[in-house]
Amino acid sequence: MTTTSPFSGKNILLGVTGSIACYKAADLASKLTQAGVKVQTILTPSAEKFISPLTFQSVTGQRAFVDKDLWGNEGHIQHIGLGLGADLLLIAPCSANTIAKIAHGIADTLLTLTALAARCPIMIAPAMDGGMFSNPATQENLDILRKRGFIIMGPIEGRMASGMIGLGRMMEVTDLYNHIRLALSQNGPLSNRHFIITAGGTQEPLDPVRVLSNRSSGKQGYALAQAALDQGARVTLISAPANLPIPAGAVIFNVNTAKEMLQAVLSAIPGSDALIMAAAVADFQPIRSARQKIKKDQGLPEIKFEYTPDILEKVADFKAKTGFPRVVVGFAAESQDLVKNAQQKMINKHLDIIVANDITSPLSGFTADTNQVTIIESTGVLEELPLLSKYEVAQTIIEKIKQRLSQ
Ligand code: CTP
Repeated sequence: MTTTSPFSGKNILLGVTGSIACYKAADLASKLTQAGVKVQTILTPSAEKFISPLTFQSVTGQRAFVDKDLWGNEGHIQHIGLGLGADLLLIAPCSANTIAKIAHGIADTLLTLTALAARCPIMIAPAMDGGMFSNPATQENLDILRKRGFIIMGPIEGRMASGMIGLGRMMEVTDLYNHIRLALSQNGPLSNRHFIITAGGTQEPLDPVRVLSNRSSGKQGYALAQAALDQGARVTLISAPANLPIPAGAVIFNVNTAKEMLQAVLSAIPGSDALIMAAAVADFQPIRSARQKIKKDQGLPEIKFEYTPDILEKVADFKAKTGFPRVVVGFAAESQDLVKNAQQKMINKHLDIIVANDITSPLSGFTADTNQVTIIESTGVLEELPLLSKYEVAQTIIEKIKQRLSQ
């Protein structure tokens, strides 16, 4: 497999300013380092009052710079060199004071000098008291930075250092990490490509309380969305109910039933590059969903079913007329004759690629984090993958689609 994570081999310059959220910056630096990023830190004099450079050096294994380095042995060009080598300058936490200075081109610390000299994208995670954040001065400064292309993340609402609740807390580390991942993927090999991915198991209502559904967790579909985003694709994720975090950058459409999923897919596919139908779509729906809850004392209900629309069949009709989506991928969840059944489904549903998985294995079942699949292409190529994480399976599928798109 040729793809790697968007973090590996990247250089991030982490600017840290005076805020109690500095301790969260150390956690973020540690997570980024573990993901394969080279993280160099610059602390402002106020940040040094909250946290030591040694903390960052310890978690990143890289130097952490402070203002005295500006005039140190390496001379005054330090700020230029640091800014030039970075893939991203991330300032987290970023105080109102540093935001104001950068907005007005003031360069009186190593960090603000570096921000002025940097040629890479700059992401800022404001952290301050709620009153300071809502002050028109800060708001106008942030508007200036937004117009210049800075990526502003947060702040979020919650308890602040003052003990008050308000809008001013630094965005949570996990969310920042996900947005950094997205920022680092921006110019990936799939930028300008639009992928539509369905995920989860549809729910067909029997009455206002009960649904007919299946065991799909949505994990494979969400992993596909993440893997496509990691290569810079624009991703529309059409999801049946799934209890999973939405990958940063995905445009999400939540649906319940097969019919709703069909509508969402048909609206999304014009002009698209790829559709991956990872969702487990119900094959039958009750002809009528009871308007009121079906009561036990009414006796055993007799529920009549009808077929749901076959989404891939409708997609094939659309593709025959328009040529879109360029590549269509289906899944085949089988409990016997895996390859034979999947090949037949690929032909019946006019697919370019089908991903067959044996649902009887506990390691590749619906709720597992791993999957063992065989990828079959309409060209006749068949690849049986070993047991992999669902993200690794997703990377392999995305890679095959990428090859198709480049042909
Ligand atoms: N699929 C679909 N519309 C449906 C049912 C399934 O588009 N109403 C898609 C699934 O998302 C999957 C592929 O068709 O990508 C195969 O789904 P699967 O459930 O394995 O096959 P079915 O066609 O439903 O046939 P069966 O359940 O009888 O094996």
